[in-house]
Amino acid sequence: VSRVTLPRALTIAGSDSGGGAGIQADLKTFTVMGVFGTTAVTAVTAQNTLGVTGVYPLTPAQVEAQLDAILTDIGTDAAKTGMLFDAPIIEVVADRLRRYKVSNLVVDPVMIAKGGHPLLLPQAQAALRANLLPLAAVVTPNLPEAEVLTGFPVHTKADMVRAAHRLVELGARAAVVKGGHLEHEDADDVFCTGDEVRWLHSERMPTRHTHGTGCTFSAAITAGLAKGLSLMDAVLQAKAFITLAIKQAPALGGGHGPTNHLAWLQEHR
Ligand SMILES: Nc1ncnc2c1ncn2[C@@H]1O[C@H](COP(=O)(O)OP(=O)(O)OP(=O)(O)O)[C@@H](O)[C@H]1O
Ligand SMILES: [Mg+2]
Repeated sequence: VSRVTLPRALTIAGSDSGGGAGIQADLKTFTVMGVFGTTAVTAVTAQNTLGVTGVYPLTPAQVEAQLDAILTDIGTDAAKTGMLFDAPIIEVVADRLRRYKVSNLVVDPVMIAKGGHPLLLPQAQAALRANLLPLAAVVTPNLPEAEVLTGFPVHTKADMVRAAHRLVELGARAAVVKGGHLEHEDADDVFCTGDEVRWLHSERMPTRHTHGTGCTFSAAITAGLAKGLSLMDAVLQAKAFITLAIKQAPALGGGHGPTNHLAWLQEHR
């Protein structure tokens, strides 16, 4: 038996029973990108393409036990956070990421599901800002999340650049402010490290099948970091990954369907 080396990536996030977002999107993305995935589940959600019908958070101790199990034995080359639900969970996650010196960290500051269901309690927003931004190699908010984290309106491309700079001032080493919610404009995201500002361009595809786009995008960045790509290259590759996954969405369910995590595999055999 030959010894194979696989890059490792950890996702700390919620379970999406519908398979399009959360832990499921992350694991599919890691796998397709050639990375071995591990998971610390923060909450179980009952949801499909029509919406969220139940949120069942785990306790902070249960999240902590999963992180200890993974990080004392298997280890990880990169990690991402998604749905964290409440402040006590955020605090144990930040503590464990610091203790095990996980420096390739992608923070996707998930707050509200597309149907309006809260995935982070409003009283936990400050904990996310204070505890996780300073640990992030990159933070990847959508427009409403960028508004909450910065405290100012984010509606235009100029606002997006300003928000990205502000997120770096708040402690993240870099930020990608995503333009998925920019109405009547292309789906352009802005990447900023403080010194460097770079736009990631995509045409806006006329589709309602965008469930889990944010999770998938941040998981693809994490996979790139696990493989040793520079942050810039990991972000560019992730943008290509999500664009292809949206373009080839499988049209499942009666609402906002998932993207196609396998599309990348078909193009990169
Ligand atoms: N209709 C679209 N066409 C092309 N790209 C899109 C479209 N919608 C979103 N994207 C891209 O998908 C990625 C995720 O952005 P988005 O703003 O949708 O994140 P999000 O709101 O966090 O997603 P989610 O609701 O899954 O959490 C970004 O790169 C964005 O530009
Ligand atoms: Mg999101």
